[in-house]
Amino acid sequence: MKSTQSYIKENKDKFLNELLEILRIPSISADPAYEEDTKKMAEAVKEHLVKAGCQKAEVHETKGHPIVYGEYLIDKKLPTVLVYGHYDVQPADPVDLWDSPPFEPVIKKTKNHPKGAIFARGSCDDKGQVFMHIKAFEAMKAAGELLCNVKFMIEGEEEVGSPNLGPFCKKNKKMLACDVILISDTSIIANDIPSVTVGLRGLSYVEVEVVGPNKDLHSGVYGGAVGNPINILADMIASLKDKKGRITIPGFYDDVIKLSKKERDAQNAAPFDLEAYKKELKVKDTQGEEGYSVIEQTSSRPTLDVNGIWGGYIGEGAKTVLPSKAYAKISMRLVPNQSHEKITELFKNHFESIAPGAVKVTVKPHHGGAPYITPTTTPEYLAAAAAMKDGFGKEPIPVRGGGSIPIVALFEEVLGVKSVLMGFGLDSDDIHSPNEHYGVFNFNKGIETIPYFYKHYAAMKA
Ligand code: BES
Ligand code: MN
Ligand code: MN
Repeated sequence: MKSTQSYIKENKDKFLNELLEILRIPSISADPAYEEDTKKMAEAVKEHLVKAGCQKAEVHETKGHPIVYGEYLIDKKLPTVLVYGHYDVQPADPVDLWDSPPFEPVIKKTKNHPKGAIFARGSCDDKGQVFMHIKAFEAMKAAGELLCNVKFMIEGEEEVGSPNLGPFCKKNKKMLACDVILISDTSIIANDIPSVTVGLRGLSYVEVEVVGPNKDLHSGVYGGAVGNPINILADMIASLKDKKGRITIPGFYDDVIKLSKKERDAQNAAPFDLEAYKKELKVKDTQGEEGYSVIEQTSSRPTLDVNGIWGGYIGEGAKTVLPSKAYAKISMRLVPNQSHEKITELFKNHFESIAPGAVKVTVKPHHGGAPYITPTTTPEYLAAAAAMKDGFGKEPIPVRGGGSIPIVALFEEVLGVKSVLMGFGLDSDDIHSPNEHYGVFNFNKGIETIPYFYKHYAAMKA
């Protein structure tokens, strides 16, 4: 029988072609128009789990998009790894900014990916990374070298806040029982600088509505006396941060755990090139909370960003109008120990309280999620670090990620297990942006590295 690694080497092209096939399915969870495709994608994941060798693979319906569950159990005495990931993707809009159609994958070389990258929505976030786990499992099983029991839980609603996954976990605790949750849905620092993610930010997401006069008005006849909801919304948003980039909502920072100098120094010791960062984004300067580095600003400090703002006339040419309504979608990234429920409440009270009498403001909460951090001393982390060392030939650096995977904190709460965030993307892979891509090197390296995790984890648990 072949070894796991030689099976992987021999099947590299097959694995890549299989990935390209599933990247053609537009499983956009946010848009009801893609419901059939999302179902089709769930079935495709199930089929791949069966083909890879799972004893059981099933599609569980939910109130929203289905959850795919699969398992291969060898021995109760061995540790159980639960692989979590998502098969849903972000909308591809704006589609005109893509250099090739988002659901027709093509491989092209880039600066960061000299061996080629797969351009398609979901290639990195998260189909490509989920698929690495299915293929690593296939290889370990084919080689007779599987050292842990394996469970897969691949959901279709991560990009819309996982509304049905929490209840599913609570209902299926026994089926999902495991020793560790393994997730590849984050990034490494660079292809020659491996890292393991040890933190995620939480999220509070709200939508605000500002209503002025009962109808759109002539901006000459009424302008000057009647409050303009767009002007007022802009003022209100501007007031949410002070000159030092601190968020002004009373109580916002109350629960933020202060980091020691040692912890901050450790974070800032990770390789980071500010000039290259600015150049890549074509910006002259960065802008953020005073007194913190870009690494801290994007991972261990909370933030507030407007994701979208609209109202009034945005059609061709000019229309002189004083609009009746204005809207914005606002997100806040949170850090330990901020609670998203509390922050949403603080935001709502504050935002409604600062509204001038000329308008009526309502705040509608969307989804939220708790932040997550994990120490670097657990067997879970150490197994991931040892695996990355085997895969990349270099000790990985622990880093906090700036994004959110809200379900991770819930896994710990409901299932009582730690998650390992062993992602293989790059921050420059344009996830959620036009031209999302995933390095062929990263895809192959992930498949190669995952079996090392099983090996080290099994040894640590033995
Ligand atoms: N995979 C990302 C999260 C991520 C990306 C974490 C990079 C760390 C580094 C995930 O799919 C995602 O986009 N999450 C959303 C949250 C969700 C509630 C919509 C996010 O972070 O905006
Ligand atoms: Mn993701
Ligand atoms: Mn995402």
